[in-house]
Amino acid sequence: MAVSGVRVGVVGAGVMGAGVAQNLGQVGHDVVLVDISEDVLKVAREKIELNCRMSRMLGGPAVDADEVLARITFSIDLASLADVEALIENITENEKLKKDLYPKLDAIVQRDAVFVANTSAVPITRIASWTTRPSQVAGVHFMNPVPMKPAVELIPGVHTSPESLERVRQLVISMGKKPIDVNDASGFVSNRVLMLTVNEAAYLVYEGVATAETVDEVFRSCFGHPMGPLETADLIGVDTILYSVEVLYEHFADSKYRPCPLLKQMTDAGLHGQKSGRGFYRYGPDHKAQNAAKNRLAAVPTES
Ligand SMILES: NC(=O)c1ccc[n+]([C@@H]2O[C@H](COP(=O)([O-])OP(=O)(O)OC[C@H]3O[C@@H](n4cnc5c(N)ncnc54)[C@H](O)[C@@H]3O)[C@@H](O)[C@H]2O)c1
Repeated sequence: MAVSGVRVGVVGAGVMGAGVAQNLGQVGHDVVLVDISEDVLKVAREKIELNCRMSRMLGGPAVDADEVLARITFSIDLASLADVEALIENITENEKLKKDLYPKLDAIVQRDAVFVANTSAVPITRIASWTTRPSQVAGVHFMNPVPMKPAVELIPGVHTSPESLERVRQLVISMGKKPIDVNDASGFVSNRVLMLTVNEAAYLVYEGVATAETVDEVFRSCFGHPMGPLETADLIGVDTILYSVEVLYEHFADSKYRPCPLLKQMTDAGLHGQKSGRGFYRYGPDHKAQNAAKNRLAAVPTES
C-alpha cells in the first residue's frame, strides 16, 4: 500500500470518525466518510471545516479546509465503501452494533482491503471473528482529538498477518502518528487504566465526596495533569465512557469495572459531554466549562 493517496473508508462520523477523516484528508488521502445519519454527516462536515481553520491556533499545522473537504466524500450508503483500500471503523462503542456492522462491511468492501477497528475496549480478535478476513483486521486506538494527537496504540488480533499489520502501521505513520505496539486485551493499555480512573472519579461525585470541579482540580494542581478525569470524560463522551467500562466489566468479569450509576444516569439523560453541550460541565457561549458549585449537593449536575 502506498503511504499517500490511499482511498480510505471511515465508518462512523461522530467525535472520532470526523477527526480521523480530517486527519486523513490533511495528509492527502481520499476519504469516504459514512454514517447512518445525514444530520451527523452535516455536523461532521462543519466540525472538520472549523477545526481545519482553527488548526494553527490550536497548535497544529496550517490546514486548507477547502482542500481537506474536497478529499472527503460524505455518504450514508455503506456501498460507497466498496473500493476502499483500508477501512477505519469508529461507530458507537456497542458490541452488538459493531457485530451487526462488520459482516456487512465484509461483504461490501473489496477483498484486499485491511480493516482497522478504532474501539476503546472491544478486543480486536473478537472483532476480527465477525469477518471472513481475520488476517486483515487490526486495531488502532486513536486518541482524541485525533488530528492533534501524536501517537496511537496499534493492536494485532490473534490472526492478523504481519503484512496487514505493516499496512496499517504505514497508514498510521502517514497520518503523522507514532504507533505504539500493544497486545490484544480489552481496553488495551490506555483504557484499562483510564476508564477505571474516570469511573472511580465519577463515583467520587456520585457519593458526594467532591464536586466534578474539585476532582479535576486535584488532578491538575496536585499531579500537574493538563486535564482532570471528568473533563476528560466530557471530551471523550460520557456515553462512550460508560459503554467502555461495560465492555471491560463483561470481558474481565471483575467487579472492579462496575460502572458508576451516575454514568448510566447521565447517559440516559443525554448529558454526553462536549458533544451534547453538557456533561459534568456545560459547554457553549453562555457557559464556561464549569458548574461545579451546582454539583456540590447533587449527584447529577444541575441546571445553572
Ligand atoms: N471519544 C473518544 O475519545 C474515543 C477515543 C478512542 C476511541 N474511541 C472509540 O471510537 C468509536 C467511536 O467513538 P465516538 O466517540 O466517535 O462515538 P460517537 O458517539 O461520537 O459517534 C459514533 C457514530 O457512529 C455512528 N454509527 C452508529 N452505528 C453506525 C453504523 N451501523 N454505521 C455507520 N455509523 C454508525 C453514529 O451515528 C455516531 O455518529 C467507539 O468505539 C469509541 O470507543 C473513542
